[in-house]
Amino acid sequence: MEQPPRFDPRIAPFSQSVKDLPDPQRVYYDKAKNVRAERIEGVVHLYRMADIVAINRHPAVTGTGGRGGSFGNAGALIPLEIDGDEHKKWRRLLDPLFAPKQVSRMEDSVRSLAAELIDGFADDGKVDLAEEFCVPLPCLTFLRLLGAPVEDLDFFLEFKDGVIHPQGDTVEEMDANMALAGGKLLEYFSNFLAKRRAETEPGEDVIARLLNSEVEGEALTDLELLNILFLLMFAGLDTVTSSLSCTLAWLGQHPEERRRLVEDTSLIPAAVEEIMRFESPVPGGMRYSDQEDIDLGDGLVIKKGEAMYPLWAAANVDPNAFENPLEVDFSRRANHIVFASGLHRCLGSHLARLEMRLAVEELLARIPEYSIAEGEELVYDNISVRNVTYLPITFKPRVGASA
Ligand code: HEM
Repeated sequence: MEQPPRFDPRIAPFSQSVKDLPDPQRVYYDKAKNVRAERIEGVVHLYRMADIVAINRHPAVTGTGGRGGSFGNAGALIPLEIDGDEHKKWRRLLDPLFAPKQVSRMEDSVRSLAAELIDGFADDGKVDLAEEFCVPLPCLTFLRLLGAPVEDLDFFLEFKDGVIHPQGDTVEEMDANMALAGGKLLEYFSNFLAKRRAETEPGEDVIARLLNSEVEGEALTDLELLNILFLLMFAGLDTVTSSLSCTLAWLGQHPEERRRLVEDTSLIPAAVEEIMRFESPVPGGMRYSDQEDIDLGDGLVIKKGEAMYPLWAAANVDPNAFENPLEVDFSRRANHIVFASGLHRCLGSHLARLEMRLAVEELLARIPEYSIAEGEELVYDNISVRNVTYLPITFKPRVGASA
């Protein structure tokens, strides 16, 4: 049977309707409150927390890879585009590498990197935080995590953007550009792996540990390693960049709340969590019910063969799950699904949280008072990942102060 063209969230009507809104939360809230679910272009859009959580943990539901690879890479990305027992096998290998204890070892190096970046502009009185802070911090952290040369940052950024934000007016053009960028990244990683395999001192980084790992008694092949690295690269870079840009933009627009954090830094972890819930940097994902009908109750049945587009961003402001969800309340302790939930829940949430917390702590320690530059408009992009691509701020320059 011929499959209909694959639904692409990047150009789907719903994503386009919130494309560059500074406040898409209102739209998500209305959907979760009034609609629950709807079929648009034949795909079931799910807006409520309870439905989405049920889908995410349902064993017959497959994830983003349910209809094949889709990120400019012919192979299935590990573990995002793999399901079932195979997926469990990869998570068993990868989870320990990104467990809280492992990630906490990076605290000193991430903190000093954040401080170093801020020191680079703290005397200037103005900066585009997106470009000077939110982009380089996660990228340099990631290169260090992999044990890759930091001098390759620009190369890396160019090809990462080519994969995540490909140029083009049609899906075909975007896919072709994405495949081109993806090919270059794979070439980079292939050469890099060859170099790392030749090293006699293995080191402690993620690559060294993967090179020394076995899955079911077998060492990982280059292809498997590439499919892991390719995913980590875009799963771990753009997401943190975007989350950080949304968080710092929010704090720039809410001076009272920001001052609370400056006065009591112990509030920062809870504030980061709550702002992420509200901003929901990854708006949604794809799920498929190719094996059976799934009855979500009260008349909502996902039919066998249907594709779903669960919107984590709508669930995170679902009034059935949260009291006053459009209010950002640092004392809220509620389960959000910013990192999705269930089987494909984010592998990197501990690393992401560490980076976010340290970035906010270091910025507020050095630049406690800042505001969005007067007369400037923040530029939001809500397609694929919600991001503030232009975040100009002004602040009192730190001339003469010691670092
Ligand atoms: C604030 C930053 C981040 C956010 C908001 C985020 C969000 C998400 C979401 C929503 C998913 C589920 C995708 C889906 O099933 O459609 C996911 C999966 C994933 N994330 Fe993250 N992520 C972040 C940071 C990271 C970092 C730093 C890493 C690096 C280790 C990472 C690695 C992954 C991987 C490997 C998966 C696939 C997990 C699987 O399929 O089993 N993420 N992330």
